[in-house]
Amino acid sequence: MRRKLVIGNWKMNGSRAANTALLSGIVAGLNDFGADCAVCVPAPYLAQAQAGLTGTVVAWGAQDVSVHASGAYTGEVSAAMLQDFGATYVLCGHSERRAYHQESSELVAQKAVAALAAGLTPVVCFGETLAQREAGQTEEVICAQLQAVLDVIADEDVSKLVLAYEPVWAIGTGKTATPQIAQDAHLFLRTCVAKKHAVAAAGVQILYGGSMKPENAKELMAQPDIDGGLIGGAALKAVDFLGIIQAV
Ligand code: 13P
Repeated sequence: MRRKLVIGNWKMNGSRAANTALLSGIVAGLNDFGADCAVCVPAPYLAQAQAGLTGTVVAWGAQDVSVHASGAYTGEVSAAMLQDFGATYVLCGHSERRAYHQESSELVAQKAVAALAAGLTPVVCFGETLAQREAGQTEEVICAQLQAVLDVIADEDVSKLVLAYEPVWAIGTGKTATPQIAQDAHLFLRTCVAKKHAVAAAGVQILYGGSMKPENAKELMAQPDIDGGLIGGAALKAVDFLGIIQAV
């Protein structure tokens, strides 16, 4: 039985004051909900997340990681640095990084490798654009994105990945994928993993992301291959984030 996992992706939002309120609101509102929960914060706020969440059931992580271990890479943040601040998760290949920072699937795969080497859990994101969906290319696109990762990850590490299906057309648009569209994509991703790693495929958590809210979370999470959510906008308000966790 796979555990459910809900991760808030704060993206480039927050301030020390706002984060304090958000983190304490999340911690205060959580009870034994039987799912895992985390927030992925901007790198400058990792220490604040660590201070506010240590000793709670909420884990924390980052939104990106360097492929390099250390050295002359101005502006980069290494997996070891994230680990130094107690991070559990790191997002790899969010569509906003692929779109605005030209991250290729091969680079994303190397980021997942770097994260695993430091003992972090990479949350590797996949998703098609609206044009790709309308052209009937969804499976081809997400399969290629996934394959790039499977090509470089050691067999024994496949079960350590978290996958996230985030259709680009559903991110921040209010247009959530229907539960059936999301389930079909999740099952497809799981089947792709299973071709090479049958046991890992059955256990790997696949999160849905894209305009998930308290109102639509329950129906999405009820799908057999949806193991949780990667939440953007709704993760910035404690009441909404908690509402999604409760829907699990
Ligand atoms: P929204 O929930 O704002 O659509 O963002 C989803 C997302 O990109 C999470 O990584």
